[in-house]
Amino acid sequence: MSAAHNLLAPTDKFSQRHIGPDAAEQMEMLGTLGLASLDALVDAAVPASIRLGRALELPPAQSEFETLKQLRAIAQQNQVFRGYIGLGYHDCITPPVIQRNILENPGWYTQYTPYQAEISQGRLEMLLNFQTMVCDLTALEIANASVLDEGTGAAEAMMMCHRLKEAEGRNVFFVSETCHPQTIEIVRTRATPLGIEVVVGNHETFAFDGKTCGALVQYPATDGSILDYTAFAEKAHAAGSLVVVVADLLALAILKPPGEFGADIAIGSAQRFGVPLGFGGPHAAFFATRDAFKRQMPGRLVGVSKDARGKPGLRLSLGTREQHIRREKATSNICTAQALLANMAAAYAIYHGPEGLRKIAQRVHRLTSVLSAGLQRLGCKMNAAPVFDTLRVVPGTGSVAEILKLAAQHKINFRAEADAVGIALDETVTEHDLLEIFSIFNGGQPVSFSLNELALEFATDVPAYFARSSHFLTHPVFNHHHSETEMLRYLRRLEAKDLSLCHAMIPLGSCTMKLNATCEMFPVSWPEFAKLHPFAPLRQAQGYQILFSQLESWLAEITGFAGISLQPNAGSQGEYAGLLCIHAYHASRNEPHRDICLIPTSAHGTNPASAVMAGMKVVAVACDKDGNIDVADLRVKAAEHKHDLACLMVTYPSTHGVFEESIREICAIVHEHGGQVYMDGANMNAQVGLCRPGDIGASISSGSCPAITSSTSAARTPSAPFPPHRGAARAS
Ligand SMILES: Cc1ncc(COP(=O)(O)O)c(C=O)c1O
Repeated sequence: MSAAHNLLAPTDKFSQRHIGPDAAEQMEMLGTLGLASLDALVDAAVPASIRLGRALELPPAQSEFETLKQLRAIAQQNQVFRGYIGLGYHDCITPPVIQRNILENPGWYTQYTPYQAEISQGRLEMLLNFQTMVCDLTALEIANASVLDEGTGAAEAMMMCHRLKEAEGRNVFFVSETCHPQTIEIVRTRATPLGIEVVVGNHETFAFDGKTCGALVQYPATDGSILDYTAFAEKAHAAGSLVVVVADLLALAILKPPGEFGADIAIGSAQRFGVPLGFGGPHAAFFATRDAFKRQMPGRLVGVSKDARGKPGLRLSLGTREQHIRREKATSNICTAQALLANMAAAYAIYHGPEGLRKIAQRVHRLTSVLSAGLQRLGCKMNAAPVFDTLRVVPGTGSVAEILKLAAQHKINFRAEADAVGIALDETVTEHDLLEIFSIFNGGQPVSFSLNELALEFATDVPAYFARSSHFLTHPVFNHHHSETEMLRYLRRLEAKDLSLCHAMIPLGSCTMKLNATCEMFPVSWPEFAKLHPFAPLRQAQGYQILFSQLESWLAEITGFAGISLQPNAGSQGEYAGLLCIHAYHASRNEPHRDICLIPTSAHGTNPASAVMAGMKVVAVACDKDGNIDVADLRVKAAEHKHDLACLMVTYPSTHGVFEESIREICAIVHEHGGQVYMDGANMNAQVGLCRPGDIGASISSGSCPAITSSTSAARTPSAPFPPHRGAARAS
């Protein structure tokens, strides 16, 4: 670098803004340890045998200003079309008071999972609001504090049905073809390792028998039809099966809720309650069930308790995976579960209240009725059943391809099918939007009828049979904060009860404790990133593709792995995906029986939970009092299981914060006995630039940042692709 360039370079460095301690403070800390420099600290902490010995080959660091400029340029490569794709993802209005004071506020977005009740009463109260909202809207007795997404929610529900009915030898799970395709795929993926047989078919003709543990239906169905599942639920129950309903939360403001027509479990996405689309996430999903099943529920539950002085207080009262308690007996491996997004969804319900939600739902339904009436006038054929917000339209004149072409010219996305287009409306839709859709179905010409005319004639309420008559959101919290000032004060009141990065270093956790710099949060709210639907055509998401491929190549260099997948949406989901890859690798070598997963006793509880979800058997490896793996015990266990050893799961540096000297030997022992090493990347930050999992002997690693799953080429054989996990747009 020339001297002139140095003189002209930006003065503000990212590192100087985000590495807190200055040189004097660093020296003070080093002095306490009796070390002379940071290099000496690294030499003392990281075994010489695994040191990288060179600088990472990454692009030069940028200042915040430069980073934002670059991100702007990348954002502009995304095209924001008016979206009517639906499929469980809808555009929505994030009330500004929620956007500014929750989504864009470090007082809300920096907190860790509320394990420490005394510093988390604000978040816990908002999560309790979320649970109350879900119970009320679904008419079920108990709801947890969010799950990861609709697809995994459905899979968790399947596993819960299986657990509840396992003793009766039931292992068939029925999935109605009315469900969204991605939900069906995720359920299939999750069922395979557990030996659950998934039958996808017509719910009206499915014959329940003594093998069926549960059945999944979508309400309204993926094509928008509101179907009556009452008789289906009765049939299921008579045959001893449970019923799971994937429901649309907004529709439930005006439709009869699942708890009133026989659902045992209701799940779905809370995204359209004010959470931006963000090309597929993160969004919170919900999970509600009957009180009798609460101990089998996945995730965590906020409960009202009493503090030491007898005063009411909130705490996590049920954590099915938390933390080191259940291990391989865990009912789920999810942990952090999109709390920020659940908080936003709860705040949306509080801000609108029951009446506001009902009005939004009624308006969306009215717009859909008018759309349906107008399209019928244009000769289109529509769903036979009543609808809430989505239509499956067979064009009157013109082919589907012509409609889609015209739509693209108008910068509009419909859901494309072979002989029909799907159109899903949402709260952002205006009268102008309807007229534009009509003109597309009218060969590009304006229509001769008026919206008013259609509204007067056709915009009726949902048929009485499907209409909701029960009250919801009756708690005062949902009825007192409808002005911006009241809402603002409530949000601030809750925020003030919590300890976040605004106040101090958070003394807990490692994996989720990533830096969210303000400049990294800015782009989250930009429409070019926030408003993309996950199933938007890939050519509209070129900016996202650039981000993904940059991140993948940087992570490959940082981890020393050959391939990176950004699909998993949590550390736990990365573990799961990684273990499925390991299984697929063994299967590709005619060793599908390899199913023993060695896990040190010091490991985080999610490791054994994920192993069980992936169909593996957990064998514990002893640790010493500092959490280091007992190498002699590992050797014994690996040898004992050499014929069926699948892998070792190891966190590095360990959960106790130690770079174990013996890590190379540990990996070698596992490989010698035919196993692979899965390295939990929760503490990967500590390795960056110093050593790399891929060089140490790990085959797969994952962590949440968003969650990363990376693998060596050995494990990524053609027969071992990354399992489908999220929206197809990201998969390709
Ligand atoms: C060591 C370790 N592994 C895995 C996880 C799970 O990550 P996530 O909460 O993103 O599922 C955590 C987080 O708590 C962790 O600390």
